[in-house]
Amino acid sequence: MKTKSIMQLLLFATFILFMGFKPDSPEFQQKKNSQLADKGIGPVKEVKIAGIDKRLVDKGNDIFNSKCSACHDIDDVNLAPALRGVTKILSPVFIMNYLMNTAEMQKKDPYVKNLIQQWKKVPMMKDQKLKENEARAVLEYLRSLDK
Ligand code: HEC
Repeated sequence: MKTKSIMQLLLFATFILFMGFKPDSPEFQQKKNSQLADKGIGPVKEVKIAGIDKRLVDKGNDIFNSKCSACHDIDDVNLAPALRGVTKILSPVFIMNYLMNTAEMQKKDPYVKNLIQQWKKVPMMKDQKLKENEARAVLEYLRSLDK
């Protein structure tokens, strides 16, 4: 009886350790990169966010379907990282800068350089050349996934 409960305890502890240190979980990335204070490199210095703006979400959803969904799924890993949860890892300003100034950030930003290492086998995200209002709409769409 006693041995059995010790075994159970060990199994449980292993499980918790395994879950806690899954290398690609958003929680792990968040700890590893402390990314949320990072604004990235690009034209956006500040962005005002409040409650979810449904009209912007729809616009962002359309842009996502036409420009992003070839590589990204919301929940599944496609050619590129799944995007649900990304607003909990990356700051709004960072996300907009990455969408507007992709190529430069891929060359210079430490977080993005590291990400590229992890996604070596797939083509890098191309420069999307989104205008500021389009990047803002996509940001709102991504935010809506995390509410
Ligand atoms: C050609 C495929 C491709 C397209 C199209 C693409 N991406 Fe990506 N994206 C990637 C890859 C690969 C990565 C990871 C490596 C990198 O950043 O280059 C990535 C990374 C990202 C990240 C960072 C994810 C993280 O976990 O930190 C975000 C946010 C993102 N993409 C959003 C978008 C949005 C929004 C669009 C559409 C406007 C888009 N991507 C279009 C391939 C793509």
